[in-house]
Amino acid sequence: MKFLITAGPTREAIDPVRYLSNRSSGKMGYALAKAALEEGHEVSLISGPVSLSTPGSANLVCIESAREMFDAVKTRINEADVAIFCAAVSDYRVADIAAEKIKKNNDELLLKLVKNPDILGSARQEFGFTGILVGFAAETENIEANAKGKLERKGCDFLVANDVSRSDIGFDHDSNEAVIYAKDGSETRLKLASKEDIARQIIERIR
Ligand code: C5P
Repeated sequence: MKFLITAGPTREAIDPVRYLSNRSSGKMGYALAKAALEEGHEVSLISGPVSLSTPGSANLVCIESAREMFDAVKTRINEADVAIFCAAVSDYRVADIAAEKIKKNNDELLLKLVKNPDILGSARQEFGFTGILVGFAAETENIEANAKGKLERKGCDFLVANDVSRSDIGFDHDSNEAVIYAKDGSETRLKLASKEDIARQIIERIR
């Protein structure tokens, strides 16, 4: 099967030297790419800036901003049988990116932010994707309700939810603990394990 996987953070430029981003390391998405390759699948990995080496023979597409990730996904998603959206996409970008480095002349600096496109949320209707769609949800509260809401709203077959309020798992850690909610109402609990192990179990569930 052909997999499309998004991974890592996005960067939203403020000026030529500064940006807004988040704490995603990309480890979970890269582990998913590795696990899919190990099962003999083809993988396109659409990645924000990370410090990880490319897993094996993955076809790596490097992007920076959410809008670049949107375009990269849009042009490739319909070649895929399975699309997994693991990237931590910035919800907002700076409305007007300064052409020159912003000087610290004032005591206050106001940045106006505008909403980025929801890439996962565009998969079904806007991109017309009919394959298996997998989303992730990193939550700090009401994990189950939020995850089930996203599963439904974004037209996913599976939604993998994890608790990022915990300091021992999730963002930038090597281990994770998660629950896979499926469209058919079933739940698969993945116990604390390395991101490699969690990735193998997710790929197995999708299969
Ligand atoms: O940010 P949120 O919790 O809604 O993210 C849930 C899922 O949606 C994740 O799989 C994430 O990769 C995806 N997403 C996306 N584009 C966005 C925001 C989130 O693809 N702009």
